[in-house]
Amino acid sequence: MNFKGNSILSIDQFDCGDIETIFGAAQKMEKYAAREVSTSVLKGAVLGNLFFEPSTRTRISFGTAFSRLGGSVNETVGLKSSAIAKGESIFDTSKVIGGYVDVMVVRHPQKGSVAKFAEATNVPVINGGDGIGEHPTQALLDLYTMVKEKYGTTKKLENFTIAMVGDLAYGRTVHSLSKLLSLYENITFILTSPSKLQMPEYIVSLIKERGHKVIVTEDLIDGIKEADVIYCTRIQEERFESTAEYEKYRGVYSINKATYTNTCKPDSIIMHPLPRDGRKGSNELDTDLDQLSNLAIFRQACNGVPVRMALFALVLGVDGIVDNYQGKTNWYIPSKREVVTG
Ligand code: CP
Repeated sequence: MNFKGNSILSIDQFDCGDIETIFGAAQKMEKYAAREVSTSVLKGAVLGNLFFEPSTRTRISFGTAFSRLGGSVNETVGLKSSAIAKGESIFDTSKVIGGYVDVMVVRHPQKGSVAKFAEATNVPVINGGDGIGEHPTQALLDLYTMVKEKYGTTKKLENFTIAMVGDLAYGRTVHSLSKLLSLYENITFILTSPSKLQMPEYIVSLIKERGHKVIVTEDLIDGIKEADVIYCTRIQEERFESTAEYEKYRGVYSINKATYTNTCKPDSIIMHPLPRDGRKGSNELDTDLDQLSNLAIFRQACNGVPVRMALFALVLGVDGIVDNYQGKTNWYIPSKREVVTG
């Protein structure tokens, strides 16, 4: 795709060449994300970070990515604190914000809503998660993590098994990640969920049409024992119509250190888009896994910064000149290992 000036709304926009372009740019951003050097290539540019649904990682990492490129960030957080609460339409909101900023990131609870923001403005809009729809930049950082942790390059991304576990019906991260992985060759998808929370049929069909194997199970152990990558998701309380309905599924899948070490391949990695639900009775990933190097979740979250820096640089057309605006970093910076492992 032509990145410059265009919105990023869905994984459907990308082919394997586009992923190579994004990951190549992300690798060049690593030194800035790690604060070995700084760049001011986006000095004067403004990001509108519009989060109408709760977020920790996506909002802060997009803001950090833009700041690390030298730009500044203006935010609105929550539906109640924006003029949408006074009845303003998505069209009007987007038109107005488009007059203020150079690029927008939008998270919104309705599927398809971020595309509506993009239709109303001529500044690029990046989808930070649209309800149960997609979360394309999460899928990109997930794949970037898998490549960094296990495969070295997307060219080796074939003949492996990914287990997706949890809420596959409402989990937009697994929707986007499935579409993204389906661009590659000969992958086995083991989809583990309660029957009511299965992956939407249109995504399963797409994966199969592209020649991949799909195994559907409700059994956690069957779901994870052969996997090279175990991708867990949270049962998302906010997507259910009632607490009673949600409670039927809370804690249905929980992996702890004993389950992992007794069941899984020793070189497998555990991923999760986060947040994991740490409340009693939930614990899809127990904290007793935290000291295992196979647990990639914090490294995965960190990868959001270089990947999102790459997207900003490509969309704003500065990817080729980032290094021309380098400076020193003068402040105290803990090593990357300290940051990620605590
Ligand atoms: N992974 C993810 O989207 O996290 P947040 O909801 O905290 O942004």
